Amino acid sequence: VFRMNIAIDGPAGAGKSTVARKVAGQLGYIYIDTGAMYRAVTLSALRNRVEPENSAALSEHAKTLNIVLRPGEHGQLVYLNGEDVTDLIRSREVTLSVSQVAANETVRSVLTDMQRKLAQDKGVVMDGRDIGTSVLPNAELKVFLTASVQERALRRYREIGLSQGITLEQLEKEIASRDKLDAERDISPLVCADDAIVLDSTSMSIDEVAAAIVNLSRTKL
Ligand code: C5P
Repeated sequence: VFRMNIAIDGPAGAGKSTVARKVAGQLGYIYIDTGAMYRAVTLSALRNRVEPENSAALSEHAKTLNIVLRPGEHGQLVYLNGEDVTDLIRSREVTLSVSQVAANETVRSVLTDMQRKLAQDKGVVMDGRDIGTSVLPNAELKVFLTASVQERALRRYREIGLSQGITLEQLEKEIASRDKLDAERDISPLVCADDAIVLDSTSMSIDEVAAAIVNLSRTKL
């Protein structure tokens, strides 16, 4: 059977990972959350007091890490040097530093190599910021998933706001600032690929977005 690679890029909180997981489930593909890999490097840097601003030290640190993604019952599991860090990489501390870590050239090249290997046999749905533009420029289907910043903040607030004690306004600011850092960095910034299909999910449900992408994938067969 013909299997393709599907790239789903877009700003923070657009629903990429939930949608990508659903699409992968419906197509029998493997889901790969590349943001989780940048988060794992960030967690390790924070733990080892490697300053994100110290790009030489961060580069050396990134080269020593063993990051493994494995499918779990409730989504993808992330292992850092053998330790399950699936939940730890979602902390606010990691979220606030990850874009700075992701701007590092060596970090990006180490992770990009890993991501290309994971996709070499096709049948992968990969979500991130630079999948269609840089990691998998030949992906058969590229989607750029957006939503208004207010809607993205609201979704994130419903997910974590109450439990982590963050206000909606604060979340909106943090999301906007992460998008700005991701879009303005020098190496493979967050940008819509020329051949990507733009989906604005502001007034769509997760299931509607997933169905739209599955339908798009059928047009590529
Ligand atoms: O997808 P998620 O929001 O978990 O990604 C966390 C961060 O990782 C992003 O804000 C971005 O800085 C970085 N990232 C990236 N390239 C990717 C995926 C994520 O730079 N392909």
